[in-house]
Amino acid sequence: MIIKKAQFVLSNSDYKKCPKPTMPEYAFIGRSNVGKSSLINMLTNNSKLAKTSGKPGKTQLINHFIINDNWYLVDLPGYGYAKVSKSDREKWGKMIYDYITQRENLYNIFVLVDSRIPPQSIDMEFINWLGENGIPFAIIYTKTDKLSKNKVAASIAAFKRELSKDWEELPPQFITSSVTKAGKDDLLSYIEEINKNNS
Ligand code: GTP
Ligand code: MG
Repeated sequence: MIIKKAQFVLSNSDYKKCPKPTMPEYAFIGRSNVGKSSLINMLTNNSKLAKTSGKPGKTQLINHFIINDNWYLVDLPGYGYAKVSKSDREKWGKMIYDYITQRENLYNIFVLVDSRIPPQSIDMEFINWLGENGIPFAIIYTKTDKLSKNKVAASIAAFKRELSKDWEELPPQFITSSVTKAGKDDLLSYIEEINKNNS
């Protein structure tokens, strides 16, 4: 699939105030700073579409982008940022919980995982929660340009081993880099396939 058009629609903390749920939607989630906003920019060939930052905690709201006038990409705030107060963390939890469980046109969630670090319990807990709630998701390994091919493979193998402790069948997985654009075609084909199956 080729992205010809990508436009910001709106930011909101309440799923009920997001755009009307009439088109397929795909959301990006994961720890703060894992590269969610950068990946959206990489997929859309627009480095200024989603706001990125070297400091964690940049994205704070549910951000909708409309792609080719017929589906949405959604940038979400990250979890696991240590400097967030307890009350803000609770607000984040409610906002994301409501969005994920109530948004009727949310076809797939992409959980982004940093390929450079060993499996983190916060990622595992989130993934297990999605699985237990029957929410369709895929895993995206980010920042693979920062590692050798062998190290990326070892890191992914470790993550799969961790997933296999809880799950018999593993979710779809994508190896990406926003710098080299690795994984772009695979991800867009995956989305295109889901769009087709639901049209
Ligand atoms: P929050 O909005 O704070 O949750 O972060 P985020 O997950 O949206 O991360 P963001 O896209 O803002 O990227 C965080 C930092 O990682 C930025 O400095 C990016 O330039 C860098 N980064 C993101 N993706 C990649 C990548 O694939 N390779 C490299 N080398 N750096 C990346
Ligand atoms: Mg962000």
